[in-house]
Amino acid sequence: MSRVQSLIDAMTLPEKLGQLTMTASSYAVTGPVIAGDSTEAIKAGTIGNLLNLYGPGHVREMQRLAVEESRLRIPLMIGFDVIHGHRTAFPVPLGEAALFDPRAWELTAREAAREAAADGLAMTFAPMLDIARDPRWGRIVEGPGEDPWVGALMADAKVRGFQGPDLAAVDALAAVAKHYCAYAPVTAGREYASVDISERTLREVHLPPFEAAIRAGVAAVMPAFTDFGGVPMTANASLLRGWLRQRLGFDGVVVSDYNAVAELIHHGVAADLAEAAALALRAGVDIDMMADAYRRGLPVALERRLVTMAEIDEAVARVLTLKERLGLFDDPYHRGMQPEDAATLINRRRIARVVGARSLVLMKNEGEALPIPADARRIALIGPLADAGPEMRGPWGGIAEPGDQVSVLAGLRGALPDATILHAPGVAIDTSDESGIPAALDLCDQADAILLCLGEAAVMSGEAASRADPVLPGRQRALAEAVFDRAARLGKRVSVVLFSGRPLVVPELADRAHALLAAWFPGAEAGNAVADIVTGARSPSGRTPVSWPRAVGQIPIFYAERPTGRPFDAKDHYTSKYLDVANTPLFPFGHGLTYGRFTLSNLTVTPAVATEQDTLAISVDIANEGTMAAEETVFLFTHDTVASVARPLMELKGFDKIALEPGARGTVHLSLPATDLRFLGLDLEPIFEPGEIEILVGPAADRTRLLSRTIQLSTVE
Ligand code: IFM
Repeated sequence: MSRVQSLIDAMTLPEKLGQLTMTASSYAVTGPVIAGDSTEAIKAGTIGNLLNLYGPGHVREMQRLAVEESRLRIPLMIGFDVIHGHRTAFPVPLGEAALFDPRAWELTAREAAREAAADGLAMTFAPMLDIARDPRWGRIVEGPGEDPWVGALMADAKVRGFQGPDLAAVDALAAVAKHYCAYAPVTAGREYASVDISERTLREVHLPPFEAAIRAGVAAVMPAFTDFGGVPMTANASLLRGWLRQRLGFDGVVVSDYNAVAELIHHGVAADLAEAAALALRAGVDIDMMADAYRRGLPVALERRLVTMAEIDEAVARVLTLKERLGLFDDPYHRGMQPEDAATLINRRRIARVVGARSLVLMKNEGEALPIPADARRIALIGPLADAGPEMRGPWGGIAEPGDQVSVLAGLRGALPDATILHAPGVAIDTSDESGIPAALDLCDQADAILLCLGEAAVMSGEAASRADPVLPGRQRALAEAVFDRAARLGKRVSVVLFSGRPLVVPELADRAHALLAAWFPGAEAGNAVADIVTGARSPSGRTPVSWPRAVGQIPIFYAERPTGRPFDAKDHYTSKYLDVANTPLFPFGHGLTYGRFTLSNLTVTPAVATEQDTLAISVDIANEGTMAAEETVFLFTHDTVASVARPLMELKGFDKIALEPGARGTVHLSLPATDLRFLGLDLEPIFEPGEIEILVGPAADRTRLLSRTIQLSTVE
């Protein structure tokens, strides 16, 4: 008999429910309630999993209670939100998405897993795979952005990175794909609000990243807090048992979000804890995180015959199987036993710096305001985020220690030892006090170059951080306008470095700044990463993974819109438009400049007529006509012009990068299996339809900047 089965046979009901329970230590709080001391329960075998506990000493002591003092000696599984690094923070996921580089995505997850596993952890509640098209929603910062193709690639890379080749290895973490599914399109961008989207959008946009995570072998999945058309995801049998387990074949663990089982009562689908627990278990939720609803509610639910012991055993088996896969039965202490050496830590910081720099997106660079001229002797560094260390980590910043973060001020001082960096915050991030502005303006008078560091505080994005008006907070706009005015009088240029967990609505910056660098939150090495870009030590290469709105009223905004029957036509009043703002975004998906100057030509696509068995070969020539070496990203979009179900005006189907020295030329080759041109037909099943397909290749989701060719799909061999 298997170890899992013999344990289940030996278990009492409280011991079984313990394995289905995850409770927090008080080290970190990531939700509204904190459990009391769990040590007695661990010894009694009635708590089987912990979250928010880390550090080899603490982990070892809790694990010792479980494996040496509990009756059945079942090891604990300990999880933490290792979202974009543990102690070494990499850029926030939205910033990492801007790299458009699956190898880098995998590398940072691998490094984060190594660091967290060395701290005793076995599970991370990541990757977050929610496709987000509404920048009001604070959790847009935690995911891959607006595109499902990018989301699926990121899912694959992150799962492989966190889990490594062997889940039992000392440096592997069980990944948790979250939040399943369609958490992002909450009503009006308000966190935890109801979700009501079409089945088609669910399948075409929100499910693909989860499907990719499951193909990559993700160990666990976390349902979203939200409901889907009235059925909370925590109780959604059709999407959990039906789609996830039966259709996708997922046989791992489903772990609820924090207190989400009990919240089924607030959702209005359960009258009490017993009903809530029964609904979640029957829907397929194996572990109850922080609600204590399984331990308290399932015994009552059993009495009321709302659940069966077989359903409980099935969930226990999945949890024990994951513990087995993690190698916890063979050696419960092996994670956290080996401190990492100095070289590993130094290398990780180096990776954080490179990835941080590559995540920055140069949105505008009028008159080549950046890089800062090499002969600039005095640089005015102004703004509330210029000397902000901890803010640079962004939300879910892991476990920082004092001195772990490099501010822009420190980074610039290190990069330009011969220059004088004059610094003034001007205003705070989010107060109404403007008294510091005059001192900041004085610096402009003395400076050869002016750099403004503006944006959000880390806590303004992430969980429970929706913003109805995602503009520059506090009095930062007043500071920026004053600096622009003063600089204009002095004939000086102003570059803005904008830190945020979302695209902000900043048309005024796009208009008046000479250079605008979207920096997201670059992580522990932020200051060095920003310095590398603004000094020209490295050319910017990030591309925005989300569309930036001109106005809040354009939200939700995304490039893959479906056509309208009345497309915008300036000469015709009765067409799709706003009276007060253009339809187009301030910056489109994929946009990002470099210090090079790239031109694309000679797009070729073969064959001209393709069947489902073919793979299209696409190539485009690229020349760097600028004076600096740089990396260009080339996107491949398609448009199915006539189909049984209207297709989006553009759909991403691939991308690649090429690095070119000044004056150099190269060719990018992309391949596209014709099967990727299938779509969900009227019956929501994949279909390959004959007809015309536009192939669009170029630097951003902006038709005016794309080269195009048309091919035919044929069903005739
Ligand atoms: O993993 C998180 C989740 O994303 C949001 N609620 C809290 C969980 C655990 O910290």
